[in-house]
Amino acid sequence: MDFRGRVFLAPLTKGGNLPFRRLCLAHGAVVTMGEMAYGYQVVRRSKSELALLRKHAEETCFGAQVAASKASDAIAAGLAAVERGASWVDLNCGCPIHDIVRRGMGATMLQRPAHLAKLVGEMVKGIPVPVSVKIRLGWTESEQNASEVARLVEEAGAAALTVHGRTREQRYSRAADWDSIARIAAERTIPVIGNGDLLTWYETHERWQKSGVASVMLGRGALIKPWLFREIAEKQAWEPTASERLAVYFDLARKMKEHFRDDEKGKERAMRFLPWHFEFFCRYRPLSAERYVESSRQHPLMQTRFEDDGGELSVLERLLRDSRPELHLRLAELLWSSPDAAAAEAAAIGLAAEMPPVAGDAGEVAIAHG
Ligand SMILES: Cc1cc2nc3c(=O)[nH]c(=O)nc-3n(C[C@H](O)[C@H](O)[C@H](O)COP(=O)(O)O)c2cc1C
Repeated sequence: MDFRGRVFLAPLTKGGNLPFRRLCLAHGAVVTMGEMAYGYQVVRRSKSELALLRKHAEETCFGAQVAASKASDAIAAGLAAVERGASWVDLNCGCPIHDIVRRGMGATMLQRPAHLAKLVGEMVKGIPVPVSVKIRLGWTESEQNASEVARLVEEAGAAALTVHGRTREQRYSRAADWDSIARIAAERTIPVIGNGDLLTWYETHERWQKSGVASVMLGRGALIKPWLFREIAEKQAWEPTASERLAVYFDLARKMKEHFRDDEKGKERAMRFLPWHFEFFCRYRPLSAERYVESSRQHPLMQTRFEDDGGELSVLERLLRDSRPELHLRLAELLWSSPDAAAAEAAAIGLAAEMPPVAGDAGEVAIAHG
């Protein structure tokens, strides 16, 4: 596993489901990561937790992520992931959510650097593939200890380190601090993977180059536009029409059918994911380099609000930008039941007549994870 020169799909609870990861592969992603799995649940052989460690045959470079506070849990989960074909195992040390931190996992690890180092050391000994660690800058702004944590993690034998450039307290309220990411990358010899606010190919290349990180990782950017991987590889934007985007979303529905099966039970399971994806898909806006590169240097586009142009948009375009959850459910259902993308488009236009679209707005994509 080479951690340099890569564009990683971030570990994303719910979002990084197997069909969505396949969609990213179809649009240029090469390196994927699974949804975070709890080590202690894997130890109990929880079926749903073990399922999070599964990869698709198309995923040739797949990292499984585990959350654990005990080495035995982390190793058991890591070994289960390796049995299922993981190329490496990542330890979550950034997740801010209450349920995780109260159990001593996720971002709590940043408050116990010596314990973290010991845990990583034991993982490295007990798991026969590379072990990486994903951190935030610290617990609060005044307690930023990512440099120290990064050093300890390197000394403990980790193969790579991802730095999400925000603190636990900040969640998504601030722009990611790429200066701090750059400093940590310069201090370390293991590959540092920079993460935070990458929404366009030009922001990605600029931050990658300026920060000197070995690799970059995409979270919400990939959820909004899974084709961002290809844009980054080709250094040019693809600005799909509403019809082209609907075809991409139809493809996701197809992949969900293959994964969950094309029956009532499969539909029920897919509907836990497919409508949810529209919370991100609806935030897509074409952000041409010509128009936005300057402003993206002042403030990441991910953290910027864009007003819609109003009357110029087609019915389908306005429908796909709509942020209403009830509409996302209807869109997901019509994608599931349509035989092909053209039929889905006709049904979507029918839906627009039934539920006149209101323009959604692309605010910061604030989700309490990571
Ligand atoms: C829906 C969602 C789920 C997430 N789940 C995880 C997770 O399971 N493990 C993790 O380490 N980070 C998780 N994160 C954080 C991302 O991996 C990433 O670090 C963060 O979103 C910053 O990158 P971005 O600005 O590109 O989104 C999640 C983020 C989102 C939006």
